[in-house]
Amino acid sequence: MTSTSAHAHDVTDLGLAAEGVRRIEWAEREMPVLRLIRERFERDRPLDGLRIGACLHVTTETANLMRTLKAGGAQVVLAASNPLSTKDDVAAALVSEYGIPTFARRGEDRDTYYAHLNAVADTHPQLTMDDGCDLVSLLHSERPEQVKEVLAGTEETTTGVIRLKAMAADGALGFPVIAVNEAQTKHLFDNRYGTGQSTVDGILRASNILLAGRKVVVAGYGWVGRGIASRMAGLGAHVAVVEVDPVRALEALMDGYAVLTHTEAAAWGDLFVTATGNLNVFRREHFEAMRDGAIMANSGHFDAELDLPALQALAEGHVREVRENVQEFDLGGKKLHLIAEGRLVNLSAAEGHPASVMDMSFANQALSAEYVAAHHADLEPKVYVVPEAIDTEVARLKLAALGIELEPMTPEQADYVASWQHGT
Ligand SMILES: NC(=O)c1ccc[n+]([C@@H]2O[C@H](COP(=O)([O-])OP(=O)(O)OC[C@H]3O[C@@H](n4cnc5c(N)ncnc54)[C@H](O)[C@@H]3O)[C@@H](O)[C@H]2O)c1
Repeated sequence: MTSTSAHAHDVTDLGLAAEGVRRIEWAEREMPVLRLIRERFERDRPLDGLRIGACLHVTTETANLMRTLKAGGAQVVLAASNPLSTKDDVAAALVSEYGIPTFARRGEDRDTYYAHLNAVADTHPQLTMDDGCDLVSLLHSERPEQVKEVLAGTEETTTGVIRLKAMAADGALGFPVIAVNEAQTKHLFDNRYGTGQSTVDGILRASNILLAGRKVVVAGYGWVGRGIASRMAGLGAHVAVVEVDPVRALEALMDGYAVLTHTEAAAWGDLFVTATGNLNVFRREHFEAMRDGAIMANSGHFDAELDLPALQALAEGHVREVRENVQEFDLGGKKLHLIAEGRLVNLSAAEGHPASVMDMSFANQALSAEYVAAHHADLEPKVYVVPEAIDTEVARLKLAALGIELEPMTPEQADYVASWQHGT
């Protein structure tokens, strides 16, 4: 790590900055809502002087969010929210072209990951911006004296929101957090279409397999699982879903998929994708039942969805990299394959969500940051949904950017839907 230049940073190679800038600018073309917000932030400076500590996937889209927050007057510092999702050229560009202190190296080990989070915490953030709650957890567990310095936070993903709600229920959360994931203009599009498409992208870049005719098991039929299942089916795969929730299982069934238990699915599938936010979804007994050549990938937030220690133990050290981002586990008699070490596959083996969908997620982030900067004094240490006005505004701006007009109700219709006197 260095603090000798204009600002501290730890990235793999500053020489990659020019390529990073090219790719950040390419993504920016697909992010018109965030661009409009950035232009307004430049004029109004709603975040003037605010210290923001961000722990997000270091991608081209995140770079455009960082530029937006900086344009609003914030002092932004960024660390990676996953050891494998960092794009090294983007990290380099953030440091040398955009002047944003960044701590992220693709493939960093656990110690480096936490050293980077601590480097962000060292700047004493007043606003936290998390993807998976790691920065908030670090502050509460290891730096409790700093919690009172934080005015508010925002959280990007389902897993982080679940952790925050658990903290709030225990009375352990020290400041208000806006759950960006709860915005309709986030999870309906980002989790479903963004993760759906980019998960397929990651699996294909890593393996180059044909999906037509393949038996694909999707574990979890939430927003992410729905997206993955529909994109896999669209490419001709046979899709089976595994669920623990009866309503979601029924929905999967009526959407046209087989619904199996993990045990049934293990013996049936060729390709297994987890998206549950849960632990050890596929484990020893399932690995033992899987067929020779089966491939596994995870698109949930943490790599705990697959019981990797059990897989390692079954292979007794017979593990090798057979392609970039593909490990082969030789179980004696059959070989199982794992993509991107079980880290979220769309960000580890591909580029993450397309910029067009992150445009909406990060517009929610930027507007939520503006909201908490103005309203933190009125908020309690709880998890808040994104204000409806922000959600609607993001949708309105996105439609406008796409050149799509909305049909207004006639006064007669507005009156009709608001009244209770009209009957048969
Ligand atoms: N890869 C990405 O870029 C990306 C993007 C968004 C969200 N995520 C992550 O993906 C995960 C899922 O997010 P979501 O928004 O779909 O959440 P969700 O809560 O909508 O869906 C999760 C589903 O998994 C089911 N489930 C839980 N345990 C299960 C088990 N043992 N077996 C089968 N199903 C089980 C739940 O019933 C639920 O329907 C989270 O970890 C989230 O943080 C990743």
